[in-house]
Amino acid sequence: MEHSNHVAVIDFGSQYTQLIVRRVRELGYFAKLYRPSDLGQLGGPGAIILSGGPKSTADPDAPDIDFERLQAYDIPVLGVCYGMQILNKKFGGTVEASDRREYGPAQLMHGEVADELFRGVPNDTQIWMSHSDTVKQLPEGTKVLATNQDGTPVSLCWSEKFRGIQFHPEVTHSHEGTLILKNFLSMAEGLEEFRIEDLKADLLKEINDRVGDKQVVCGVSGGVDSTILAVLLKEAGVNVRAIFVDHGLMRKDEGDEVRRNFARMGVEIETVDASELFLNKLAGVEDPEKKRDIIGNLFVDVFWDAVGNAELLAQGTLYPDVIESASNEGSSASKIKTHHNRVDRILELQKQGKVLEPLAELFKDEVRELGIALGIPEDIVNRHPFPGPGLAVRCPGAIEEKKLRIIREADAIFIGKLREHGWYDRVWQSYAALIPVKTVGVKGDERSYEWAVSLRAVISEDAMTADWVELPYQILRESSHRILNEVAGVNRVLYDISTKPPASIEWE
Ligand code: XMP
Repeated sequence: MEHSNHVAVIDFGSQYTQLIVRRVRELGYFAKLYRPSDLGQLGGPGAIILSGGPKSTADPDAPDIDFERLQAYDIPVLGVCYGMQILNKKFGGTVEASDRREYGPAQLMHGEVADELFRGVPNDTQIWMSHSDTVKQLPEGTKVLATNQDGTPVSLCWSEKFRGIQFHPEVTHSHEGTLILKNFLSMAEGLEEFRIEDLKADLLKEINDRVGDKQVVCGVSGGVDSTILAVLLKEAGVNVRAIFVDHGLMRKDEGDEVRRNFARMGVEIETVDASELFLNKLAGVEDPEKKRDIIGNLFVDVFWDAVGNAELLAQGTLYPDVIESASNEGSSASKIKTHHNRVDRILELQKQGKVLEPLAELFKDEVRELGIALGIPEDIVNRHPFPGPGLAVRCPGAIEEKKLRIIREADAIFIGKLREHGWYDRVWQSYAALIPVKTVGVKGDERSYEWAVSLRAVISEDAMTADWVELPYQILRESSHRILNEVAGVNRVLYDISTKPPASIEWE
């Protein structure tokens, strides 16, 4: 789909680039991500944002931009971090390299100049820095729109249409970042509105272009992402096979629920029961990354076995999965854990051009909105996220059937209680995990020496950060009571009050 007057975000490789796109979409405008080399093919942009990036402008292989072409658009341009530095150079100034990185909060001071960019932004507001180089010589005629608390320029204006900011307005730690972006976008004329219907149309077209008459296979787990992916592929009318691999790490009665839900949506799925295979391969394996690796690779094997000779594999990978695994080329983010859809086999297939990930630029809430636009029932769209490796990441250490049974029972009780008290939809994700530590307790008149169960309920916007939920004590009390009485092998129930970061949402 051709877009006119949209916001073109040029990606110089920062881990925050997609967040810029997201903020612009949140402000109600259509935004699209481009590589610097795409500059000649932006269609008709109404505004351009140059992102940050991990390189120094002095690096021989630093990404460049065709400045003449950029100027020829004659529309508002905002350079962010690296984007500001490259613009300062293009206008004839210099950038000083430094091996010290400024990372974290700073204060924005813009009292001297009343520029539209900072309209309504209080002085002294917190901004977020993440850079090492800084602008040095400013080209003649450059206006310093703002400085930090030490007087170092953090915002420049080189000409009527070109502005730059050294800080990252897209992260929430820049307290007025969204307002600054909004002010910038208000300098553009008649920007195209963002509608989820447009996104849907774009994705359908992209899928059709990419798939053509090839056969595409996708794995479905019953989770929101893979469900929406399968429905999207069906809607695109491509030749698709949806396969549900039961890896034996599902929750209580989950397989039946998944089949029921797909039947409701009219999507045919094939089930492969590989639970024994998975549990055998995982037996005795304790290391979290090894477990992830085994599950991820085996998943692809079982999958490929089931499909025979498919030409394309579609995955419901979302943007946060891509950043946290940080294994995509050119990524500057460091690896936190290998997400299920980024194991070696998948990366290999990716190199061969056999992986299709239409949702990889989206955040969870955007995917949910897309799901609604695709007509998927709300209870399916609003299902809590469930990780690809399933209960394996909620069972620290080696996986055993008796541990999985405890998790399943405890989880079903806890989720049931959340639903009963009307809290399921108020929580972003919730589950029970097993803590494989034995402690002493008393059951009846007997000494018990059994494991603990941890309950977790979090709210999050996009899984990149999360906070624990202050659930009513009654829910915790009733859940704990039932788990202690009904789930054999458990004598202790804990509630997890850890934020992400530093914890993650799952246990592994
Ligand atoms: P963490 O534990 O990384 O979880 O804070 C963030 C979100 O991602 C889910 N998660 C996964 N999803 N494959 C997935 O599809 C995975 O390997 C995976 N690991 C974690 C997790 O449930 C949470 O919603």
